[in-house]
Amino acid sequence: VVEIVRSIVFNPELVRPIMQELDIPLLKEDEVLIKVHAAALNHRDLHLTNSSLKSPFTYGSDGSGTIESLGQSVTGWKVGDEIIINSQVSCHKCDNCVKGDHNLCIQGAALGGPSWAGAMSEYIKIPAKNITHKPSHLSFVQAAAIPMAFGTAWHALFSQAELQPGETLLIQGVGGGVALYCLQLAVKLGARVIVTSSSNEKIQAAIEMGATAGINYKNENVIEKLKEITPNGVDVSISSNGETLAESIGATKKGGKIIHYAYVGKPLEFLDIDTIMLKQLKIIGSLMHTYSEFEEAIKYISVTRFVPQISKTFKFEEFEEAFTYLKEGKQLGKIVINLIKE
Ligand SMILES: NC(=O)c1ccc[n+]([C@@H]2O[C@H](COP(=O)([O-])OP(=O)(O)OC[C@H]3O[C@@H](n4cnc5c(N)ncnc54)[C@H](OP(=O)(O)O)[C@@H]3O)[C@@H](O)[C@H]2O)c1
Ligand SMILES: [Zn+2]
Repeated sequence: VVEIVRSIVFNPELVRPIMQELDIPLLKEDEVLIKVHAAALNHRDLHLTNSSLKSPFTYGSDGSGTIESLGQSVTGWKVGDEIIINSQVSCHKCDNCVKGDHNLCIQGAALGGPSWAGAMSEYIKIPAKNITHKPSHLSFVQAAAIPMAFGTAWHALFSQAELQPGETLLIQGVGGGVALYCLQLAVKLGARVIVTSSSNEKIQAAIEMGATAGINYKNENVIEKLKEITPNGVDVSISSNGETLAESIGATKKGGKIIHYAYVGKPLEFLDIDTIMLKQLKIIGSLMHTYSEFEEAIKYISVTRFVPQISKTFKFEEFEEAFTYLKEGKQLGKIVINLIKE
């Protein structure tokens, strides 16, 4: 019987992740214990490390694995079932949850932070509501790459932007986990996608994946370049920081939508409210996904046999290298830690 588990934990004194041995978590009656096979990194892991948090927490919003044990009231699952974790934890009781808007939950949180211990651990305990069957065509490593980034991309594109086939979409910073899923989903839908990136190699790769054009935001003027590519502007723009929000306001056509989901890079220095008014732009925030969107997204992955783009896989003991790789922004797609020894 396992009693001690190794976990990747934020250490507030060192202000970095360390590997630590913790007691195996005790289950509440509506929870399941998962033997984690793989866990993915998200930019959130860097945000949490750089924030001024004073208490330790176990990292990891995303994971896949097998059920090790079940709380007394859990039904419909059995030990050994292969599962994927839903990173959005909601109360299921507040008015927003009852309406199905779980990402507006008044107590909403993500796994892998101060509220909930995450999946970068040999075992994780989570509410049974937070597991879904792993799509059978995906490996555990591929499945671990899905939850937070794919769910966020799904909600942003389909619920917030209501993106339609034939529409033109601008995705800022395509190298990231969420951004790359936006590209893949939008291309499959039949949208015309223009991307920006800090890297010409990533732009080239995005074009091979179906983007029609790319702009290097490090050495080109995004708004000027976009005017050459699509003079009337884009229908929808996906923005990830203050600078990209300013560019999206310039790049989006009259009546268009800007979906803002992130805070990498520079904060906003100036909000061009005149242009927002004159173009009647709709600027919409987007946060993770609801439980039904997550189920829909996983069904889509199974039906279309969608395979996530994994940038690099690290062993559990190589977690520091994985965090460095994320920090340096080298990835095109997801970074995954494989906890199972080959
Ligand atoms: N709202 C939500 O629910 C939600 C969910 C997940 C993530 N997020 C947030 O979304 C952001 C990205 O997360 P992730 O996990 O996908 O990150 P990631 O894999 O670490 O990727 C970082 C991204 O930032 C881009 N980037 C960095 N500086 C930029 C700049 N100046 N202009 C344009 N793009 C820039 C990079 O683009 P290139 O590499 O192509 O240059 C890359 O796309 C983070 O802030 C994260 O907290 C929000
Ligand atoms: Zn709620």
